Amino acid sequence: MNFTLAHLSDVHLGPLPKGATFENFALKRVIGGLSWSLNRYKLHRPEIANVLRADIQATNPSHIAFTGDLVNIAAKAEFKQGLAWLKDFGSGDAISFTPGNHDAYVPVPWGSGIGQFSDYMSGDMRTDGAFPFVRLRRNIALIGLNSASRQNLFQAGGELGAEQRNRLTSVLRDLGERGFYRVVMIHHPPGIGLSHPMRALSDAAETQKILTDEGVELVLHGHNHVRSLNLLDGKGGKIPLIGVPSASMADATKHHVASWNRYEISRNKGQWQTQVSIRQWNPQTKTMVDGENFALPSRT
Ligand SMILES: [Fe+2]
Ligand SMILES: [Fe+2]
Repeated sequence: MNFTLAHLSDVHLGPLPKGATFENFALKRVIGGLSWSLNRYKLHRPEIANVLRADIQATNPSHIAFTGDLVNIAAKAEFKQGLAWLKDFGSGDAISFTPGNHDAYVPVPWGSGIGQFSDYMSGDMRTDGAFPFVRLRRNIALIGLNSASRQNLFQAGGELGAEQRNRLTSVLRDLGERGFYRVVMIHHPPGIGLSHPMRALSDAAETQKILTDEGVELVLHGHNHVRSLNLLDGKGGKIPLIGVPSASMADATKHHVASWNRYEISRNKGQWQTQVSIRQWNPQTKTMVDGENFALPSRT
């Protein structure tokens, strides 16, 4: 039986709870809150995210990968709202979450911030909040990274740091030797030049080198709010880096409308095959409909 993986990202769940903008008077949060009230709330619609969530649930995937930006300005009430949204989606065991820059918009203690999502970010062996976390499901290994790091005003970058990168190297090597199909999940695109410098992963070059040196079957990311596929040359063949639009995006003017990807993974004659199907928001019918369907290059 094939393994099916659903990938969504950047829910940017609204509405912004009352009082969230001015919580603890963090300037970055105030500016982010005002930007939400002026503009972003029109683009990121919770009703679209809910239809997308139901669409994923209806297909009953083997696992769900959610690559961050569940909330907007990291206010307390947002995490409560976000956790409720996740719980309505599925259990921590069924969904893997990797934090985005908006989930760590301003410094918030782990326990009152993204730590509340820890059921969705814990590994099979380690549940202490360490990244990358690793989850094994049949012959698939899900590897979750945390690229959310402290950012200055008007910056939306991220960083893994040396410790996470070192652990990523050994995890990829070990799982590769054991024959797993390795899926790396990370909010920021982990490749050189894939985001504007103000929004990029600061150690993208180092991370890309690890991915190509060690080999990885699939890399899933969000952050750019557009659909993208980049292929890197690496160990074992082409390495696909795949981005999805925001799961709540109503407007196609600057970004792609909301969509999610479904990956069907199989092993045939010593090769990994991955079929990708896109499901996207249709503003006319207000439903999710079929988009493109294509195969990724097979890998040994
Ligand atoms: Fe985002
Ligand atoms: Fe982001």
